[in-house]
Amino acid sequence: MNVDALQTPRLNLLPLNLDHIDAILEWANDPAVTGHSHFWRQPSDRKRVARFILEHEDDPSCAYWAAFGRTEGVAPEEASVGYVGNVFLFHLNRDYHHGQIGITIKQAAWNRGYAQEMMPAALRYGYRQLGMNKIYLQVFTTNTRALGLYRKLGFQDEGVLRAHYYVNGTYHDMHSLSLLRSEFEERYEKEGSLPTKPLP
Ligand SMILES: CC(C)(COP(=O)(O)OP(=O)(O)OC[C@H]1O[C@@H](n2cnc3c(N)ncnc32)[C@H](O)[C@@H]1OP(=O)(O)O)[C@@H](O)C(=O)NCCC(=O)NCCS
Repeated sequence: MNVDALQTPRLNLLPLNLDHIDAILEWANDPAVTGHSHFWRQPSDRKRVARFILEHEDDPSCAYWAAFGRTEGVAPEEASVGYVGNVFLFHLNRDYHHGQIGITIKQAAWNRGYAQEMMPAALRYGYRQLGMNKIYLQVFTTNTRALGLYRKLGFQDEGVLRAHYYVNGTYHDMHSLSLLRSEFEERYEKEGSLPTKPLP
């Protein structure tokens, strides 16, 4: 889907496009990053990443951004970070007003608060621009880092999807968490309620 570029205090979030192949290759073959994904398990080369980008660019149920450190008005260490990672909304359902969110940060940029900056920006876009009422996610029960992040951001536990994915010869349980628009509004938009926008 065509999405707008977004800005956060330290980052520019650009709609994913073919210029971002090399950026994605910064983490696509790093097992510390891909080990918690059911998609990025195979070795990735430019061709595979390009196919992935083209599929997601054209998918009307998907909004995908690549995040880059802003170069103006930020501390030098922020300005030199370059590409940071991706945040994306997918399985967006305009009938039910729900969709999923996902995030990937390259390992060199972990623990600098980037995910906590990127996710609210994508969530806000999902609720405000895309008319979602509920944004949810699934995370491997072994991914304690991501689980801690999501709970810190206000996602509520919904339960465990048992043996939900068969990956690398093993069945994996997934935590299911979600954040309703009203909860987001309460937590992040204290200055006023979100405008209700007709669904595109
Ligand atoms: C999970 C991931 C997105 C976090 O990105 P990040 O930019 O490092 O996250 P932030 O620095 O914004 O926030 C880190 C928060 O995660 C949580 N966290 C980090 N390590 C943790 C751990 N070992 N246990 C529990 N919570 C942890 C904390 O809440 C922490 O916040 P704090 O440092 O302010 O206390 C990143 O590590 C990543 O891309 N991992 C690989 C891909 C992945 O797992 N994606 C999610 C798939 S569902």
